[in-house]
Amino acid sequence: MSIHDKLARLEELRRAAEEGGGIERLQTQHDRGKLSARERLDLLMDEGSFVEMDRFVTHRSSDFGLADKKILGDGVVTGYGTIHGRLVYAFSQDFTVFGGSLSEAHAEKIVKLQDMAVKNGAPLVGLNDSGGARIQEGVASLGGYADIFLRNTLASGVIPQISVILGPCAGGAVYSPAITDFVYMVRGTSYMFVTGPNVVKAVTHEDIDMEGLGGADVHSAKSGVAHFACDSEPECLAAVRELLLYLPQNNTEISPALESSDAHDRQDEKLLEVVPDNPNKPYDMHNVIKHVVDDGAFLEVHERFAQNILVGFARLGGRAVGIVGNQPSSLAGVLDIDSSDKGARFVRFCDCFNIPLVVFEDVPGFLPGVAQEHGGIIRHGAKLLYAFAEATVPKVTVITRKAYGGAYDVMSSKHIRGDVNLAWPQAEIAVMGPKGAVEVLFRKEIASAEDPQAVTDARMEEYREKFAHPYIAAARGYVDDVIDPRETRPRLINALDMLQNKRDENPTRKHGNIPL
Ligand code: HXC
Repeated sequence: MSIHDKLARLEELRRAAEEGGGIERLQTQHDRGKLSARERLDLLMDEGSFVEMDRFVTHRSSDFGLADKKILGDGVVTGYGTIHGRLVYAFSQDFTVFGGSLSEAHAEKIVKLQDMAVKNGAPLVGLNDSGGARIQEGVASLGGYADIFLRNTLASGVIPQISVILGPCAGGAVYSPAITDFVYMVRGTSYMFVTGPNVVKAVTHEDIDMEGLGGADVHSAKSGVAHFACDSEPECLAAVRELLLYLPQNNTEISPALESSDAHDRQDEKLLEVVPDNPNKPYDMHNVIKHVVDDGAFLEVHERFAQNILVGFARLGGRAVGIVGNQPSSLAGVLDIDSSDKGARFVRFCDCFNIPLVVFEDVPGFLPGVAQEHGGIIRHGAKLLYAFAEATVPKVTVITRKAYGGAYDVMSSKHIRGDVNLAWPQAEIAVMGPKGAVEVLFRKEIASAEDPQAVTDARMEEYREKFAHPYIAAARGYVDDVIDPRETRPRLINALDMLQNKRDENPTRKHGNIPL
């Protein structure tokens, strides 16, 4: 055979690999509003940068008629390329090949990629569209999943791992994403569940469809399994590219700085109007963030889950920061079970990857109630406390209004190694709010008064004057300064500049025991 014949054969095999499960199945995929595995990679990666590996791999099973059903690539396209010019590894499961199910060989391709990504210190993006373990391969496919889970775990905190769910992911196909740092879903086409609607019906007699059981809205708003829900696959893949702009390649690097035309010393008059004069009135913490960060750009994570806390990425003076903000317009910004989990996970991500934390604090305390207590608010609230306390990245806090009770301690206070803590003049820092305090301290006096309301009002006014301001905390150095809200942006940029070479560490140990 001449080299030309051999090249023709190579071309033929390459084309066969690119066809996956065939034209008909691809058409079904398109008819469902889904892209093919390769079309997705084209949108994710910089144009023409993707280099495929292992396109000639096939499964090794002969059971259930599989011997003559070998498809090149075995249902997953793996390789590397660039996103915004930086190296990224990616795999993309092909639902047209045995429903994207994971065989031993399919798993080996992903494992190889995981090992390369860690060795070369670059993010790994998984595009998941899979019916889980390939049933015909039995324990070999279960073993393949476990090999992937192990590497997900060992890579955690070493390289950013991002999972994009682009089909009906069941069984093992959801647990690998669940270990990774960020999960994206697409409305109407992507689902995540341990067992699908049919099994649910058989076991619990509950009638529910795929969307209701494990669709993008359910997981991004209720369960918190997904961090982002998008309306289409192209939108979703573009969102992944945007997120990567804020992240470093690995845990030994810092995120690339991007200069903007937003002046570092910009003072914003709007910040005087955000917090209402009445301390019981809500306001939207987005309006604080928007007027402080570079160009008002805030990439919110978990936007619809536990909305009483806001987390996400932004830039200050070009530097990427992780923002955590209490949200007075949702449940008055209280900390509850879900918001504690959401905040803790985000703080730990930023700490793993050297992203400074900026906290905007307005928190009346932890949410009281039987459901919260019985649901374990103590255990969950402790996660956020633990996460802030253990974080060694630069930590800067601005108290915009309330910092009451345990929540004052939790939200990156100086006592748990907050580096620079500032307060606006409207800040109220105390064990509890005036109403609660007066009810505890003056219960008897109020009960025996001729005009209980007048006594309550007078005592509350007295309490407010004594405690509802930032100057007692400032007198002890618990806040470093009380600032004009308009100065917030320059003060934060200045603090982050000052902290850029911060060195801090935790005791030598195998690992801490965060209350999970
Ligand atoms: C082998 C599979 C498969 C699987 C789908 N296919 N899942 N083949 N192993 N796990 C094949 C189908 O036979 C079909 O082949 C093709 O893929 C497309 O599947 P359809 O069912 O026609 O598609 P759809 O109607 O869209 O339904 C998709 C689905 C469903 C919801 C994912 O296929 C499904 O429920 N699959 C099984 C899910 C599951 O229970 N997996 C095992 C989980 S256990 P043909 O040739 O007919 O086109 C697990 C263990 C790991 O993963 C545990 C870790 C903790």
